[in-house]
Amino acid sequence: MENNKKLPEGFLWGGATADFQYEGGYDEGGRGLSTHDYETNGSVENPRHHTMEMPDGTIIGPASSFIDAETVPDEAKPVFIDGQYYPSHKAVDFYHHYKEDIKLMAGMGFNVYRFSISWSRIFPTGEEETPNEAGLKFYDDVINEMAKYKMEPLITICHDEMPMNLALKYNGWASRELIDLYVKYAKVLFERYGDRCRYWLTFNEINAVRGFGPTGVRKNQGIDRYQAAHNMFVASAKTVIMGHEMIPNSKFSTMYALSTFYPATCKPQDVFHNMQQLRENWYFVDTMGRGYYPSYADDILLHHGIEGLSEIEMATEDEEILNKGQLDFISFSYYRSNITKDGDDWFNVGGSSNPYLKETPWGWGLDPLGLRYTMNMIYDRIQKPIFIVENGIGIIDQADENGYVEDDERINYLQDHLSAMADAINQDHVPCLGYTMWGPIDLVSLSTGEMKKRYGFVYVDMDDLGNGTLKRTPKKSYYWMKKVIESNGESLADHE
Ligand code: BG6
Repeated sequence: MENNKKLPEGFLWGGATADFQYEGGYDEGGRGLSTHDYETNGSVENPRHHTMEMPDGTIIGPASSFIDAETVPDEAKPVFIDGQYYPSHKAVDFYHHYKEDIKLMAGMGFNVYRFSISWSRIFPTGEEETPNEAGLKFYDDVINEMAKYKMEPLITICHDEMPMNLALKYNGWASRELIDLYVKYAKVLFERYGDRCRYWLTFNEINAVRGFGPTGVRKNQGIDRYQAAHNMFVASAKTVIMGHEMIPNSKFSTMYALSTFYPATCKPQDVFHNMQQLRENWYFVDTMGRGYYPSYADDILLHHGIEGLSEIEMATEDEEILNKGQLDFISFSYYRSNITKDGDDWFNVGGSSNPYLKETPWGWGLDPLGLRYTMNMIYDRIQKPIFIVENGIGIIDQADENGYVEDDERINYLQDHLSAMADAINQDHVPCLGYTMWGPIDLVSLSTGEMKKRYGFVYVDMDDLGNGTLKRTPKKSYYWMKKVIESNGESLADHE
């Protein structure tokens, strides 16, 4: 019988990272400060996790949530505190290890690598007239290094961050001023890298525009989340239009967090509630994927205390821009699934635990079939190719004295998820361009600021406070994944 896990020729296999979790070099090469630079490390148990400190000692945050306007005086700016550790400053130092890391990725057979560009490395305050040449050169070097191994770049233009100046001066994406500043930034990237880069993502996890880091919205007046989203929709659409004109054969998406939800029971009220919860995400996918706001948009906004789209500040040309700047494909992250029930908060990002699923130490429910389900849901809805640009498992690895990890749990997770992906492609006929595993080289966790929540195929010797040699050592999963890629998925069938 024909192997049913082998993927179509040309499938893109690789990994994904974000600058502030991976790159470091925060004060090198003329880089400006970005919103994540002020966030402390932490852990789920540590209440300081992800907070920012004000000059008078007030702690605000967590920074991954919106900060209530009432609690932030106009003139307040966060400060760095001696003795605190700020993970983005060094991260795992890709800035100085990029040649070694790209070689390791190539060793597994990656033919694509998704990375994000740090906006403040190119425009330190976001407002300069001319870009920072040293910042542009760094990514030139990265892309050229990848080209040696025939690795295709998939670039995230903005991964949950922005120059700090834009957050403080404009209240981030709540202001329309950001649209032109973003388009100017994207244009510079297209001019510089467009000859070598076809695949672009305008934003990361845009549907999770959940706070200061991603949106720069420091003073939240309630409507700001949806105003920020609108401004990001328009910025993305303008960028897609411009990118298509500037780069032949270019393909654009934005990235959505689409870990899914199921109704807790078959009680009709739970099922209906779950549909509403899913629409919190579809609002973003539909608007950008189809080029217009969905019919249920007013209902979503009403639920958040906003009268409807009429309350969002829009320019007359926005409708046409959204229509012309539709995404070419739909990219998303998938890690887990959760359940919802009638009476839950609609915007409960995590949902509740599913009693049928095992969970990671961070409470993420393991659900490979949920990936196949999500792939089908997206394609049924939007009818454009999809791209899985984040998937993986964050767990605690036990390294031996050489840094080697026998990470069978990670191998099992990937085996199950990649098999489910292959089934969606081969059995359900969902067109999928590729798969980039999250954090191929260990990096800092976004949600907790920890290092011990590891995703990688490659172990990095560093602890939660940045101590360690930064030595890179391939784990057992590295050699397993190499076989999967070499066989273009065929070897996945050996384990069934
Ligand atoms: C996605 C983000 O939300 O999930 C990444 O795009 C993030 O930046 C990843 O790292 C995994 O989440 P975490 O919190 O385990 O790092």
